[in-house]
Amino acid sequence: MRRLVVISNRVAIPDATGKAAAGGLAVALHEALQAYQGLWFGWSGKVSAHPAAQPKIIDKGQVRYAVMDLTSLDRQEYYNGFANRALWPIMHYRIGLSEFSRADYAGYLRVNRSFASALAHLIQPDDLIWVHDYHLIPLASELRAVGITNSIGYFHHIPWPAPEVFGALPGSTELLRVIPDYDLVGVQTERDADNLRRSLVQELGAIHRRADLLDLGSRRVRIKSAPIGIDVHGFQQAAQRSGSSRLLNQTIAGLGTRKLIIGVDRLDYSKGIPERMEAFERFLVSHPDQRGRVTYLQIAPTSRSEVPEYATLSRVVNETLGRINGSLGEPGWVPIHYVTSTYSRAILARLYRLSRVGLVTPIRDGMNLVAKEYVAAQDPEDPGVLILSKFAGAAEELTDALIVNPNDKVEVAEAIQQALHMSREERVARWQAMLSVLWVSDVSQWAASFIKDLAGHKASRARSKIA
Ligand code: G6P
Repeated sequence: MRRLVVISNRVAIPDATGKAAAGGLAVALHEALQAYQGLWFGWSGKVSAHPAAQPKIIDKGQVRYAVMDLTSLDRQEYYNGFANRALWPIMHYRIGLSEFSRADYAGYLRVNRSFASALAHLIQPDDLIWVHDYHLIPLASELRAVGITNSIGYFHHIPWPAPEVFGALPGSTELLRVIPDYDLVGVQTERDADNLRRSLVQELGAIHRRADLLDLGSRRVRIKSAPIGIDVHGFQQAAQRSGSSRLLNQTIAGLGTRKLIIGVDRLDYSKGIPERMEAFERFLVSHPDQRGRVTYLQIAPTSRSEVPEYATLSRVVNETLGRINGSLGEPGWVPIHYVTSTYSRAILARLYRLSRVGLVTPIRDGMNLVAKEYVAAQDPEDPGVLILSKFAGAAEELTDALIVNPNDKVEVAEAIQQALHMSREERVARWQAMLSVLWVSDVSQWAASFIKDLAGHKASRARSKIA
């Protein structure tokens, strides 16, 4: 069997007990890596003054992990700078927030190049190589430059914007030129696939061989929509297990007969957290009889705090929260509970099941796995209602959610009212429809199908050469 090499900015190394990280993607990639006796390569998450040119190797079970330290300048330019200050906002349609600097871009290319030269010593001729996410877009070209001819796939976990938006980024044409150095590129939605293909055609003159197959000179790439899923069974089980934490116990104790509305997001401007709080405020103002009858719990672990736009967001959220709780709260009732700690998958699953409403209203999101996890966690007899932004990738699949425009506070407020008053029959019918969709794109099948396509691509190229 061919070995699988996964490359991503963050690497989820199992802890001392051998337990893999709890995230759905980490679980799926571990499963695939175990099956293929694979290698997982990436940043160690650490900074050192003089990082070794070769990665640190850690063998656990059937899987080999290879991680490299970065210098603090690398972290600043590659991770905080180009990846998270220039690319991330552009990919999320926020041209105004995108801060491009040539130094950051050079740092981004430098780290990709150093990863490629370390990988050149680790990759074997028959390996299947699978690169993940926007930190590593140029990696295929850097790998080709050091002589790697293996099949290389790339999965883009975040949105791919329309050509007019992507084109606003200095260096965007250069990044596009890398794409045909991959054999297979997966994106989350049909819209993303269409955007990327249009950019390649309009900017570089790529030619369609088939709807999903593009040629640029002698290079050929397949771009397909491959929506990522979750570990449905694992999540369902976690939601039913007993277990306790202070947050869970206090939420249960404080609720009484109140209904719970929940939001769970990394503290990121793409998630629409202040907008969501204001929509909840609007709901309480328009429906005063609901005051004291609902509690909105927003969990938002702090993220990328060295990037200035994230510090600004944190201030805005705190101000919005303080204003709403101050003006609408009453003795014995705080409308919005806000926590920035990280909670385990098990605790989140229990909280989702307790909540009557899941509020998932990003301004733009590649997929949004919280939406899928919320659905999987529900009690089949008495499920909650998912309110979902039309700008989350998940909205292409979960059409039985209450779909809203997150920029329209009145619309979101009325969706909250509708969700809180929805009959049990309608909740069950919508939930069943959404659950059946989740099984179609379970994360293990998602990974297996991408790997199969990547392996098949190489085989068909080999065949066409023989013919
Ligand atoms: C998004 C990205 C991932 C990233 C994660 C957390 O989901 O698609 O690549 O790992 O955010 O962000 P962080 O900057 O903490 O890695």
